[in-house]
Amino acid sequence: MDRLETMTQRSSVRKFKPDPIPESDLRVILAAARQAPSDASAQLYTILRVSKGELRQRLAHLSGDQQHVLDAAEFFVLLADVHRLEKLLEHRGESPGRRPRTALHFAVVDAAIAGSHLAVAAEALGYGICWIGGLLNRVDEVVRLLNLPRGVLPVSGLVVGVPAERPQPRPRLPEKLVVHQDHYREYSDADLNAAYAAMAPIGRRGDWLPLLRHYFARGGAMEARDAIYGLAAALQGFVADWPPAAAETLRLRGHDAGSLGEAIEKVLGGGWRGILFGSGPFGESTVWLEKETAAERGEGSTPGEALARAVEAALPVQD
Ligand SMILES: Cc1cc2nc3c(=O)[nH]c(=O)nc-3n(C[C@H](O)[C@H](O)[C@H](O)COP(=O)(O)O)c2cc1C
Repeated sequence: MDRLETMTQRSSVRKFKPDPIPESDLRVILAAARQAPSDASAQLYTILRVSKGELRQRLAHLSGDQQHVLDAAEFFVLLADVHRLEKLLEHRGESPGRRPRTALHFAVVDAAIAGSHLAVAAEALGYGICWIGGLLNRVDEVVRLLNLPRGVLPVSGLVVGVPAERPQPRPRLPEKLVVHQDHYREYSDADLNAAYAAMAPIGRRGDWLPLLRHYFARGGAMEARDAIYGLAAALQGFVADWPPAAAETLRLRGHDAGSLGEAIEKVLGGGWRGILFGSGPFGESTVWLEKETAAERGEGSTPGEALARAVEAALPVQD
């Protein structure tokens, strides 16, 4: 296959032979990944290569017991990573900026582009690949299992190996739905019907909707992932108004919260009614939590921290 064919005729592989990938091919594949473009050359990603063994088994289990994670010669975890960048700045006496939102955005983009280079290079050499978003089912536990430092968050898994199947290329949305010219074109009923018609072969019963419903409708798999992702992002320092230490404190007390808003909801659910944000004489944030018969005060360098201190006093440890 020529280079373009490997991209236009590819499909994900989920059945693998037990053969390993020779070291020479692995070096080429990883060199292709490392040559991926990145914003400001910052390379805000890390590729974690997971050997076969207990760690791989635990990650396969956390990813929804996907057999191809165990069978493939290689399993990589793609990490969004600003930890190394911060180390590099500190190494030369600079203070890293406070930019949790753009850090997450650009680090996820860098990790996805590097992973895509890795995948395309592996496919060009004749290997099969499959991305493993199932790793996000319990991303908080993956963070703990891999002992990731703050500033590092899993983006996806990626298996690579010698294929034992060559599935037909799977359908895609019509070009005019995904490529717009000059302005964003809103979708007509005809467009939406064309989308379902084009994607129909992807569903077992010739219907795309059950798959979309399973992941993206109310009560679907993505909703379940979302709160867990929020918590992991907060613990890893990527949530602007919710300091990692506050998220960790609440977590240890059995009250998982991935944002300041979720923490406030927990407080209100715990019977506290009044939440008064303020600032002290030295610029510190203060928060008062009040019930009719009680009040608790917290103090910290940000409203999130102050709220966490007040919440610590107000919410008991859960069994
Ligand atoms: C970010 C991402 C996450 C994915 N997660 C999984 C997964 O957990 N398990 C799996 O078997 N396939 C996974 N896939 C593969 C998709 O199901 C597949 O790409 C899609 O159905 C289109 O099929 P094709 O790649 O064969 O064209 C994932 C793909 C992407 C890009």
